[in-house]
Amino acid sequence: MINPLVDAAHDFPILNRSMHGHRLVWLDSAATSQKPEPVVEAMDRFYHESNANVLRSVHTLADEATTAFHGARFKAARFIQADRPEEVIFTRGTTESLNMVARGYGDLVVKTDDEIVLSPMEHHSNLIPWQQLAKRTGAKLRYVELSPDGVIRPEALAAVIGPRTRIVALSRISNVLGTINPIAEAAEMVHKHGGIMVVDGAQSVPHESTDVHQLGADFLAFSGHKMCGPTGIGVLYGRMDLLETMEPVMYGGEMISYVDQETATWAEVPQKFEGGTPNIAGAIGLGAAIDYLAGVGMDAIHEHSRALGELAFDTLKSLEGVSVYGPARPHAAAVAFNIDGVHPHDVAQVFDSLGVAIRAGHHCAQPLMHWLGVGSTARASFYLYNSQDDVAVLKQAILETKRFFQR
Ligand code: ALA
Repeated sequence: MINPLVDAAHDFPILNRSMHGHRLVWLDSAATSQKPEPVVEAMDRFYHESNANVLRSVHTLADEATTAFHGARFKAARFIQADRPEEVIFTRGTTESLNMVARGYGDLVVKTDDEIVLSPMEHHSNLIPWQQLAKRTGAKLRYVELSPDGVIRPEALAAVIGPRTRIVALSRISNVLGTINPIAEAAEMVHKHGGIMVVDGAQSVPHESTDVHQLGADFLAFSGHKMCGPTGIGVLYGRMDLLETMEPVMYGGEMISYVDQETATWAEVPQKFEGGTPNIAGAIGLGAAIDYLAGVGMDAIHEHSRALGELAFDTLKSLEGVSVYGPARPHAAAVAFNIDGVHPHDVAQVFDSLGVAIRAGHHCAQPLMHWLGVGSTARASFYLYNSQDDVAVLKQAILETKRFFQR
């Protein structure tokens, strides 16, 4: 029996809601996770007791706010095993983080005929910034070939990573296929050729213990809201020597060292990348989310997510008239599927009437939909508050949907 890793009803009051007369079953954590009480309380406490801007004023509240903000950076750095808190830049989320690298670093180093290596399973956030960089610079995009079950094999990486590769940008875990990608192997290959490894950690940082050194990540992007934190806060981790050369893309207050009428110089990393008032409460909420996840244990979360993903994969695979995508093993917490003859949006609609929340559509991965030969899919995704019972509910919802459309 796979039980929730936490007291879901206590820690996540939203999960006690009844939905159209049914228990709410949240199977949309790959889109956004639910938020535990300690995260909501930490943000509430900040606004109730310590609200002030950071890094600017000398009064007591500013000092409290700045200390809490620095504390969140420290927690985020430790969570991914970064060498220094300054290697953590707060952003709005994965999308902003990856755009910053493509603009601030890519524009500096990528030249005509250089190559940027991607995979067909990338989320648009880890695709369009590189397409645009290629257009600006005349660089070429190269795509690693996927095996028929949607896995990146080392041979396929070796076939596209070479002396012209400046950047390899891959997701660690696919938001559609649930594939866990061989980032360390890709990093080793690109480093041999003097290029860098950019990792989209949006779906992995919430679900597995992350060590930027073990991954070989020169940059790592992730979002707070998929890991029990609030929306509007995320992280760009970067190796300090790269961040020192990287250009800021947002100009304004607090990111400068000196300004005169004609020109300006930049503050030190990370302030150089954090122009304007940051999302202070969001960072504090992310810090509380990290405490919460660390309290449960990232290894336990990883095992739990995989166990549910694999159970769901096997369960759906055994159903007639249902296609399931991605590898059987290992399969992370996102499981994409289609029911023969039923549009995924209709699937999601019937599921909603049964209290089951899933996502349907192209999942911001249209090239992957083309690769799969479908327009869209339904997707169930799991997290630490889900259980084996939720997989049983998923199966029942599929059977009910099939019955409904057969009538
Ligand atoms: N990237 C998020 C998802 O896959 C929004 O649903």
